[in-house]
Amino acid sequence: MKYDIKNLTLQEKIRMLNGVGAWRIYNANGKVKEVFMSDGPNGVHRRDDITKASGPATAVPNMVTVANTWNRELAYLDGETIAQDCIEYNIDILLAPGVNIKRTPLCGRNFEYVSEDPYLAGELAAQFVNGVQSQGIGTSLKHFCANNREEQRCFQSSEVDERTLYEIYMKPFETVVKKANPWTVMCSYNPVNGVYTSENKKLLKGVLRDKFGFDGLIMSDWGAVHSCYKAAKATLDLEMPYNKTSVAEMTEAYEKGLISEEEIDACIINILKLIEKTECDKKVKYDKKTRHENAVEIANEGIVLLKNDNVLPLKDGNILMAYPDEPAPLGGGGSAEVKTDFVQTNLAQLVKDALPNANVTSYNRWSKRGLLVEAYDADTIVYRVNASAEAENVDRTTLRLPYTQEEIILALAKTNKKVIVVIYGGSAVDVSPWADKVSGILFCGFCGEASNEALADILCGKVCPSGKLSETFPVSVEDTPSGLTRGNTFTEWYKEGIFVGYRYFDEYNIPVMYPFGYGLSYAKFEYSNLEIEKISETDYKVSYDITNVSNVDGKEISQVYVKDVFAMVSRPQKELKGFSKDLIKAGETKRVSVMLNSESFAYYNVSYDKWFVENGAFEIMVGASSQDIKLVGKININLPEETQQSTDTRDW
Ligand code: BGC
Repeated sequence: MKYDIKNLTLQEKIRMLNGVGAWRIYNANGKVKEVFMSDGPNGVHRRDDITKASGPATAVPNMVTVANTWNRELAYLDGETIAQDCIEYNIDILLAPGVNIKRTPLCGRNFEYVSEDPYLAGELAAQFVNGVQSQGIGTSLKHFCANNREEQRCFQSSEVDERTLYEIYMKPFETVVKKANPWTVMCSYNPVNGVYTSENKKLLKGVLRDKFGFDGLIMSDWGAVHSCYKAAKATLDLEMPYNKTSVAEMTEAYEKGLISEEEIDACIINILKLIEKTECDKKVKYDKKTRHENAVEIANEGIVLLKNDNVLPLKDGNILMAYPDEPAPLGGGGSAEVKTDFVQTNLAQLVKDALPNANVTSYNRWSKRGLLVEAYDADTIVYRVNASAEAENVDRTTLRLPYTQEEIILALAKTNKKVIVVIYGGSAVDVSPWADKVSGILFCGFCGEASNEALADILCGKVCPSGKLSETFPVSVEDTPSGLTRGNTFTEWYKEGIFVGYRYFDEYNIPVMYPFGYGLSYAKFEYSNLEIEKISETDYKVSYDITNVSNVDGKEISQVYVKDVFAMVSRPQKELKGFSKDLIKAGETKRVSVMLNSESFAYYNVSYDKWFVENGAFEIMVGASSQDIKLVGKININLPEETQQSTDTRDW
């Protein structure tokens, strides 16, 4: 280590356990470099400590859109792109990504999070972290853990059984720690099973450090520490932001013998190691223009085509763009908000440019009657809507669109014209009141400063849609396991256990509007020739052909699900364990391969306190979505008998 802990006095070390202002790590009277951090997952939220002003940065697509690309390379590119802004603005650590599971579509921060599925969340977030860190910028994997609602996020204890914690809520953290080694992890605000995560030694030390192997710095969420010495003893290294009482409290705890200098030093060593990491060489790889182009490339693949009754891509005829002058929201609100100085070209203009033979008009006045009059002469109407506002600290109260927007959709639909609805939102939307009455639906998530360009590319067919949903769109919020219930402000019981997202809808046979993994394309794909090659008892190579039977080039996301046919514990009907996104040219066939390993078959056995593969048959399903399974195969795992628990083999 470059910095020697012996050069620091006890007072300096105690002071160092606490931030400086909102965004800095203490420089120990100039003995070490001052480290600067900034939010977040959707681009850099540049906030000045002193002036509190926010500066502009590249507003990349929000995580919801990145997740809907199902593209590991694009998640990496997203991270790399944000890191360029960090280098330019002297930010050492990016406070992202957030991998909390989308347990309920109402969670106000879902736009920042990746998925309802732990495998997808872990895979994409790991690439995001690799992308950021490849540029010499650190990340903070957050919020560890079980912070799945905003309401009462600071106080309500998440009561989650241990198996569910490992399999669902902590799994993406485990994956990212193992595949990307984030420089820091941020604890959540909430207690888990009655102990604040900031001082939850079992979770921070026992699981994150000892089981997952995390050797970096653990910081608190902003204001999540309730006792600085209990936090340090639980191996939380850094309390953020500055808290004026903590230095006195820590000193007192030390004097009373409640915490030792060795325990303080353990935190300081992690802080010093982090500071040293930030002193690496950094070079700007993408200029501002390229950063913007990267944002468009990501958004192009993150827009999901939900319905298409032969209306898209737009061709010629009379096309009415409703409210194209209204800028699409860049993203959700709160710490992940990003300001940009990029000026987007008007959407109607972009569509006009792309379709010179069409008659493209636009309507921008807030009059339903006026819009209907304009619609009279149109063949096709493109109407952009925004889901109810999403932001940190509040949850949504409905999945429905604001009433006036639903009314306008229904009124437009009555004109018997082709209506295409374009939705902006951070999570699932209830489209059930109007989906069957319109001809096309696109879900954009939030595309940041790339919104208009990416949408125009999809609408006009320059880009073939290839996004798929990283979360289920239920028919209504009433159908979700935790949509209508709330904690009692003290505790929230995760009573659905491991049956979260599609695992729940599958298990209880509840129809959904659009399943997990669903998304249409302008191309058409067929799956065939499944082959499952055994490499070892728990390693398999799953291969299959995908043929593009259309005349449009397109990318297809194929998904590999696994089902334990008989198990000693309850297991989901299927779980995502692999996926691939491949460009398949018109008329071509591509052989796709996905590897499965022991993690693909294991569940967390709380009696053994470890991941465990139980012998027996497993179904391997290859699908275009979680409910559109195209190919099914079976394997049989037969590990040595001594590794297995006894099962019911008696002949009654
Ligand atoms: C949020 C974190 C964020 C931090 C700093 C907290 O309120 O929960 O995600 O990184 O503020 O802005």
